[in-house]
Amino acid sequence: MRVIVTKDFEETCKVAAGIIADVIAARPDARLGLATGSTAKGVYPYLVQAYREGRLDFSRVSTVNLDEYVGLAPDHPQSYRHFMDENLFDRINIDKRNTIVAKGTGDIEENVRAFRREIQSRPIDIQLLGVGVDGHIGFNEPGKVLWDSAHVEELDQSTIDANARFFKDRSEVPARAISMGVGEIMRAKKLLLLATGRQKANAVAGLLKNEELDAKNPATMVKMHADATVVIDEEIAGLIGYDCKKTN
Ligand code: GLP
Repeated sequence: MRVIVTKDFEETCKVAAGIIADVIAARPDARLGLATGSTAKGVYPYLVQAYREGRLDFSRVSTVNLDEYVGLAPDHPQSYRHFMDENLFDRINIDKRNTIVAKGTGDIEENVRAFRREIQSRPIDIQLLGVGVDGHIGFNEPGKVLWDSAHVEELDQSTIDANARFFKDRSEVPARAISMGVGEIMRAKKLLLLATGRQKANAVAGLLKNEELDAKNPATMVKMHADATVVIDEEIAGLIGYDCKKTN
């Protein structure tokens, strides 16, 4: 794992956007694995800016997103399809037919099968990952087992609580989501995991401070990947006693 320690959230997002931009520069038809949440939301403006300044071209890029809430239609303001359109796709020259987000309404089992087929259709060149307070990646929640492929996940109460800030009322937060599986995430050619702020310190400690692969902290799986970059801020590094000079 390559570990980068940044000053703060903003620098984390900037560094992450630079890494994604390098992948597109090397491969103009790259397939990006994308994420939602407030961390990813900080990355996309840098990609939009690079596009506006003529430094990035998304015309041949395709994308696949980690997850989608079950029960929210694509045009629901809190759906992840809506999030992606609003924060990235509608602001760059990507062909939206080449952007895959699982469908959270209709026949969910069929949607999961279709999502699996889409994921398998082509390797992901780089997968962007945030991390949940409970260590989830995508929506793969802590538990006794983790899943290889896309599936429906029951969300933990802590995840529902954490994501309630985006909804008018906690009762509106969906209890289930379709998520890419941990195996599918691991099969991306590169992983880029971002974590900032003290509430992510425990999850990151499990990833950087020991050698355990812990199903109760899905973020720990990232240590198995041969080409993973983890970007954390000084606050987390300080809290977990991570030595900035050390990369493992
Ligand atoms: C959601 C997403 C995850 C994301 C997580 C962290 O639960 N499904 O993919 O990593 O949020 O979000 P944030 O960056 O807002 O802390």
